[in-house]
Amino acid sequence: MKFSSSFLDEIRARVPVSSVVGRAVQWDRRKSRPGKGDWWACCPFHSEKTPSFHADDRKGRYYCFSCHAKGDVFTFLTEKLGLSFPEAVEQLASEAGLEMPKPDPARARREEQRASLADVTEMAARFYEDRLAGADGARARSYIQGRGLSNDTMRRFRLGFAPDARDALLKHLEKAGVSRAMMAEAGLIGVPEDGRGPYDRFRDRLIFPIRDARGRVIAFGGRALGEARAKYLNSPETELFHKSRVLYNLDLARKPAYEASEIIAVEGYMDVIALAQAGFANAVAPLGTALTEEHLAMLWRMAPAPVLCFDGDAAGLAAAWRALETALAHLRPGYSLRFALLPEGMDPDDLVRERGAAAFSGVLEDADSLIDLMWRHVLETNPAKTPEDRARLEEVLEELAGRIADTRVRGHYLSEIRARLRKLWGRGGAWRSGARRFGKGGASLGARRSGKGARGPLSGASTRLVAMSRSGDARTWHERELLKLVLNQPELLDFIAEELAELEFSSSELDSLRRKIIDIAAGHAELDSARLHAHLEDQGAGPAVAKLTARAEGPGRRTHAPDLDIGRARKTFSAYAGILRRAVLERDLKAAEKACEADPTEENFARIARIREELNAAASTAGE
Ligand code: UTP
Ligand code: MN
Repeated sequence: MKFSSSFLDEIRARVPVSSVVGRAVQWDRRKSRPGKGDWWACCPFHSEKTPSFHADDRKGRYYCFSCHAKGDVFTFLTEKLGLSFPEAVEQLASEAGLEMPKPDPARARREEQRASLADVTEMAARFYEDRLAGADGARARSYIQGRGLSNDTMRRFRLGFAPDARDALLKHLEKAGVSRAMMAEAGLIGVPEDGRGPYDRFRDRLIFPIRDARGRVIAFGGRALGEARAKYLNSPETELFHKSRVLYNLDLARKPAYEASEIIAVEGYMDVIALAQAGFANAVAPLGTALTEEHLAMLWRMAPAPVLCFDGDAAGLAAAWRALETALAHLRPGYSLRFALLPEGMDPDDLVRERGAAAFSGVLEDADSLIDLMWRHVLETNPAKTPEDRARLEEVLEELAGRIADTRVRGHYLSEIRARLRKLWGRGGAWRSGARRFGKGGASLGARRSGKGARGPLSGASTRLVAMSRSGDARTWHERELLKLVLNQPELLDFIAEELAELEFSSSELDSLRRKIIDIAAGHAELDSARLHAHLEDQGAGPAVAKLTARAEGPGRRTHAPDLDIGRARKTFSAYAGILRRAVLERDLKAAEKACEADPTEENFARIARIREELNAAASTAGE
C-alpha cells in the first residue's frame, strides 16, 4: 500500500534519525554534539577510519561527506538494514506510537488508475498505428520509406501517425469512454489555461511509441514531418513515464544484449530503429536527455561494458565526456563503459544507411575504453609545456580518478595514470606532442587514425580535440566556442539568451563580449550574423570578435558553419553551457570545502551538500 506524505512526515518528526542510525554505528564522542542533535560516526555504508558520516536530528537526515550516502529514517532501514519500505514504516510507526493508517479507498483507486493509464496509452498507440495505415497517413508512410525503413520494421516498432487535427485523438478516446482527466494524466492532451478547449499534444507528427521494460506503451515521441520549431516532441513526465529511468527499446534489446553480453546506447529513436533493421538488435537510447545514473545501472545489468555511441561532432564529444563523468563514481571491478565516436556529421542511422552494417561494426570495434577517453581528453584540453602545467595535468587526472568510489578500481586507475605519465614524460621532451605519439597506452587518436586514413571514424572528433589542446585551457575553450556559435547563428539567441546571460565566464575579455551580445540581443529583434557583427563593431568589440573568429579558421571550423542545423547548434550550446556551469560549481565546491575545514559549522556543511546536489542535478539534466 501507499502511505500519505503527512503520515510519513509525522514519523520523521517523532523518531530521531540518530536513534535509528545509532543501532548500526558507534557515535564519535569527540566530534558529536548530542545537545544539538548533531552526530558523527564512521560511515556504515563504506569502510573508513575517521568519521565523515553525519546525522542531523533537527533535519531528520544523514549524509556521508565521503561516499555521499544520504537519506532519512526510512532509507536507513531499507538500505542499511534491508527492510522493505512497508516494513520500515510499520516498525517506525510503532516506535513513534502511531497507528498504521487504514487502507485508503481513494488510494487504492489511484493504483487501479495507474493500470488503466497504461490502457489509455495503449489505445492511443493503436489509434496512431491505424492512422498511419489510413489515407491521411500516406505522407508519413512515404517519409518512413524515404528513410529506408521496411514495413516489417515499421510494424515491429509500432510506428504511428498523429493526424493534423486539433482533437482527433481526444474525440476517439472520448468515444471509447476515456475521461479527459485520464487523457491529460497520460500526457496525451493539453489543456490551455485560457479556457479554450483541450487539444491533442501530437499533431501532424510521426509517432514513436515508447515502451517500458515489459513492453507496455507508456509514452510517445513525435517527429515533425516537415520543418517545425521542435523536431521531436515527447510526452511529459507522467505517473507512468519518468524519462530519466527509461531506455527506448530496452524490452526488445534486452534478450539479444544479454545473450551477446553487449549493449549499445545511441542518441536517437531513429538510430535504434535503423540499427535494429541492420541487424543490431541490442541498441537502446535515452530520450533526449543525457545518460543518467539510473540509465547506467540499467545498461550494466545487460553487459559489463556497454558501448555508448555519440555523434562525432562537438555536441557528441561533450556528451561523451559527461557520460564518463556520470559513470566514474559507479565503476566497479569488471564493469566499465566503452565510447564510440562516429564520423563527423553522421549518426548511427546515417552510417548504416550510407555505409552499411560493417561500417558500424567497425566503429564498435574501435570504441575507446574509459581510461583511454579520459587520458586523451585531459591531455588534449590541458597544456603541458611547463613543469607547472604538467603538475596541473597530473592533478586533473588524479582528481578524476579520485571520484571513483570503488577503492580497488580507483587504485588501478591511479597506477595506470602514473604509468602513462611516466611513459609520456620519461622520453626527453616527448610530451611536446601530447598523447599523439604513443601507441595503445597513450590512447592516440592521431596515431590510430593515420593508420586508417583520413576517413577513419574519428576524424572529426580528433581534430576537435586537437583544437582544444591548441587553445589551452578547457574552460576558456568552451567559452570561446559558445560565443562563436552565437556569432555565427544569432537565431540561437531566441532560445538561449537567458541561459547565456546567466553563465559566468572565466576570461574577462570573453565575458565582456558575452555581455555585449546579450545587450544587443535585448535591444534588437531578428539579428542576423552580419547585423550582430555590425553592432559589436559599433561598441568597440571589433578586435575581440576578429580575434575570436580568426581561431575558427582551424580544424574546429565545422561547428561554426552557418548551415549547421539549429537543433544541433542548440544541443551544442547546452552541452557547453552545462560544462561551464559545472566548472563554476566545482570551483564553489572547492571553496566551500576549504571554508568547512577551517570552520566546520552546520552552515558550511549545508553549503557543501547544496553544491553537491546542484552538481548532481547538473549532471543528470544537462543536455535536454
Ligand atoms: P537528433 O537531433 O540527433 O535526431 O536527436 P535523430 O534521432 O538523429 O533524428 P532524425 O534522424 O533527425 O530523425 C536525438 C534524440 O534527441 C531527442 C530525441 O529523443 C532524438 O531521438 N530530441 C531531439 C528531442 O527530444 N527533441 C528534439 O527537438 C530533438
Ligand atoms: Mn538521425
